[in-house]
Amino acid sequence: MAPERITLKDPARFRDPANLTWERYIALQARERERYLAERAAIPPEALAYKTVSPRYVERATEQFANNYFPELSATHYVATAAANAPFDELKKCCLFQLADEQRHLEMDRDVFERAGIPERDWLPAWEQPGTTCRFFRHVLELEDSIEILVKANFVAEGAAGPATFAVLADGAEARGDLLSAVNHRARVRDETRHISYARALVRALIEEDAENLGVIQRWQDESLRLFAEVAHGGRRREWWAGFLDSYYKIALPLGLRQTPITF
Ligand SMILES: [Fe+2]
Ligand SMILES: [Fe+2]
Repeated sequence: MAPERITLKDPARFRDPANLTWERYIALQARERERYLAERAAIPPEALAYKTVSPRYVERATEQFANNYFPELSATHYVATAAANAPFDELKKCCLFQLADEQRHLEMDRDVFERAGIPERDWLPAWEQPGTTCRFFRHVLELEDSIEILVKANFVAEGAAGPATFAVLADGAEARGDLLSAVNHRARVRDETRHISYARALVRALIEEDAENLGVIQRWQDESLRLFAEVAHGGRRREWWAGFLDSYYKIALPLGLRQTPITF
């Protein structure tokens, strides 16, 4: 089946909700970096060296670290594709700023792996095993159409893995003594919120321009959530999955999308 394509015939319908220019983006990132470095500097050295967590925590968290790192790494690739193929400049600009954000996130997550002393040869196998986000991101990495990439990865996946999900991850890491992961998640979410909001503006513009676009977006949502559902297969991570869907439907249902039936 040929991939479905939709496009915004009138690009003026889309405006970057964050209203960023290069100047503003750089200033925002400078403030963000200062805040991040101050938060990280407040972490005691033993905690930064992963000496305050149990060895069992690191063993069990390796998959979670992989589920953080590889999606960020994937994002630097698929958002670069979305920027390269962007049908109009305002959208390309949003993609390029996001690309810089995702590069920063991936470096934060690499830092976690390294400080926790997990050898690099173990990272990818942890992500490629069943029950991870791997299937979804490998799918997105095969796409070439900017709008399809942004709907699936930013609107659906980031929309779902939004503020609530990252708060759960941050609190969980903090409770187990993993203060660096907690600081990273809280920093990451401030950017992801912006990635979600421009994708939502794009989806809204597509639906307002042509109601038929809703059907295509619905199919992209269904496909994405079913690939993501692998993470919760067999009743794993129930609480996480409920929060994940809840975050997403909060932004999707008001735009006229319906829930995706998923059978485990
Ligand atoms: Fe990210
Ligand atoms: Fe993002």
